[in-house]
Parts: sequence; C-alpha cells; structure tokens
Amino acid sequence: MPFRPRYTGLIAKYHDRLPVKDDSRLISLGEGNTPLIRLNNIPGELGKDVDIYVKYEGLNPTGSFKDRGMTMAVTKAVEEGSKAIICASTGNTSASAAAYAARAGIKAFVLIPDGKIAMGKLAQAIMHGADVLQIRGNFDDGMRLVKEVAEQAPVTIVNSVNPYRLQGQKTAAFEIVEELERAPDYHCLPVGNAGNITAHWIGYCEYSGRGEGILTEACTLCNGHCRYASAIVDKRPVMVGYQASGSAPFLRGHMVDDPETVATAIRIGHPQSWDYAWKVKEESGGWFDECTDQEILEAQRLLADREGVFCEPASATSLAGALRDIRHGTIPEGSTVVCTLTGHGLKDPDIAIRQSSDALRTIDATLDDVRRAITDRL
Ligand code: F0G
Repeated sequence: MPFRPRYTGLIAKYHDRLPVKDDSRLISLGEGNTPLIRLNNIPGELGKDVDIYVKYEGLNPTGSFKDRGMTMAVTKAVEEGSKAIICASTGNTSASAAAYAARAGIKAFVLIPDGKIAMGKLAQAIMHGADVLQIRGNFDDGMRLVKEVAEQAPVTIVNSVNPYRLQGQKTAAFEIVEELERAPDYHCLPVGNAGNITAHWIGYCEYSGRGEGILTEACTLCNGHCRYASAIVDKRPVMVGYQASGSAPFLRGHMVDDPETVATAIRIGHPQSWDYAWKVKEESGGWFDECTDQEILEAQRLLADREGVFCEPASATSLAGALRDIRHGTIPEGSTVVCTLTGHGLKDPDIAIRQSSDALRTIDATLDDVRRAITDRL
C-alpha cells in the first residue's frame, strides 16, 4: 500500500505562497488541514435548497484558527532572532501564542481582560507557561498597551497587526477551494478584530489570480510573488461578516467603547483591521450584519445537537447569521455557503453547561431508575 507523505503543517504545505526562507526553522504543531463538514440535517429543517459547509477550525492544535497565523508569526519571530512574543487577547490568541512559544523555546507574555475569557483558554495559556497578565480593562485596552510596550521592550507583537498572522490565516481559504474544487458562493465569518475575514479574502484573491485591491497592499511582505501565482479558480466568494450586537462597530459605523457579549472571543469594540475589512466588503460585494447573544447561543446549540459539531459561542455567530440570511433569501437558494467555525466548543464549557443544565437528570443508582429514565424517553 502506498503511503501518503506525513502532513507537517501549513507552512510546509504552502511554503511557495508564504514569506518564509527556505532554510527557516519552522515552528509548527501540524496546524491547518481542518475538516470541511457538509451539514446534513440543518438545511432540510430550514426547508431551503442550500449547501452549507462548516470549516471546523476548532480542530487546530490549540483548538482555534489562531494557530494558522501563529505558526507564521512565531516562525518569523524566531527567524528574526526574537526571544519573546507578546499579545493582547480575548483568549484564543493567548492560548495559541503560549503553545507556539513553548514549542519554539521562547517567552510569551499575554494580556487578557480579567474575568472575561473562557476557562479553557486561560488553562491553556497557563499550562504552556505563558506569563499571564490579567488587566482590569478589556481587549481594546490590552491591545493599546501591547503596542505601547513593544516600542520600549524587545518583544514581538503576535496579534493580527503582525502581518505574518494574516499570511498564515489565508491558507484556510486555499484549503476550502482545493476541497470544493471552486470557491464557495458565500463565505460567512464571525468578526472581532476583522483579521480573519481579511486573511480569507487574501487567500481567495490569490487563488483566483487577482492582484488588485487589498491583495496588493497586504502582500508586499512576500515581495509580491504570490500576486503572480497562477489562477486556480476564476471566482471569489461574497464575504459576509457577522458581529455580536453588543460588540458591533462595523454595524454602528464607528468604534464602540464598552463592547459586551456572551461570545467573549469577539468582545471587541476597536477592530485592528478596520480599513481592510471595509475593503473586503466592497471588493467582494459582501455585507456585515449582527446577531443577538440569544441567536448566537441557539445556533451553537443547533449545530451541536443536529450535526454533532461543537463550536464555541463566537464561532456560532457565522452560522447564526448565515441561517437568518438564508431564511430571508438574502443568501439565495442554490448557493454553496461556507461558515468558519473559529474555535472548539470545549474552550468554553461554562457557557455550554449553563444553557443546557435542563438536559441533566440525577437519579438513584438502581436498575429500576435507569430503566425508567430510558423508557421515558424512547
Ligand atoms: N472567533 C474566535 C473564536 C476568536 O477567538 C476570534 C478572535 C474571532 C472569532 C474573531 O476573529 O478578530 O480575526 O475578526 N479572537 C482574538 C483573540 C481577538 O484574542 O483570541 P478576528
């Protein structure tokens, strides 16, 4: 039986499209190559003829899409001789930065909003040995402080303002195109800082051989070589970004000072990729919309319950918005839709259990009780 070569991460796979040197030491945990799962049950229940796929980024090594960007950012930091990285985070970036710093043997400092990140993410940052600084402030305060301190101390910022992050994250779009053998008609994402929606657009542009607009700016990093890459498909998707209503600067049209949402990962009022995201909307003919916390939690539950896919609340924002737009016909029947599920549901067990506690029954440890409990529900 012929063996396939071992998958060793996205930089190894896409090195000709990424700004890395041939002899760079790659800092990788085998990230990328995540499943694109076709939803079997939800479209039928909606009564709509649509193909919905979820790109399950929660199956990356630290449980979120951040690993795609972090393998690039940390590889480049090490290539450039950096001994420490720093980030502000709503949780996932800190978990990923901590893990890749551990892998590289360098130091990670992470600033997180005190009491406002999911427990799983905090556990990851601590276990990977990061210096965890809980600030009495939100993500936006942390981001401002990280930028200021990096001007005075020898630390590399690994938030998505670090352009290598977007370069790594664009590979998710490559994988989707390769698997579908075309670009989807619509690509729906949750939007916080708007780095990920920007990165996906860069990826789709590259694979369609279009070098105009945002790509021209974002790709100066690889000396433009990716701009000249041959076209693999001729079409790009319409990009749709959904925000949580309490943290929706793209809907308000201005920065929001006190963002609030149950989806703590996207509790961001001052997005770092503000200008890029507006360009993505324009260039792709897409739109932004918002979802309430209740819609987000319902979509999270629906996906777990009907399809067996468990994502964290922020991730479910993409599906919540897409389902509403499909129901209203804004996304027409006959479309192929991809929703990015940015993080794993196990990141935030508290929220999941809190909204499902009615599913738990406590009974005596007797055969009679167990039998009765089962036959009740058959
Ligand atoms: N979904 C999850 C699970 C996230 O962790 C984030 C961002 C987003 C969506 C939004 O992505 O910022 O590129 O628009 N989390 C960052 C963090 C802010 O610190 O982990 P974006």
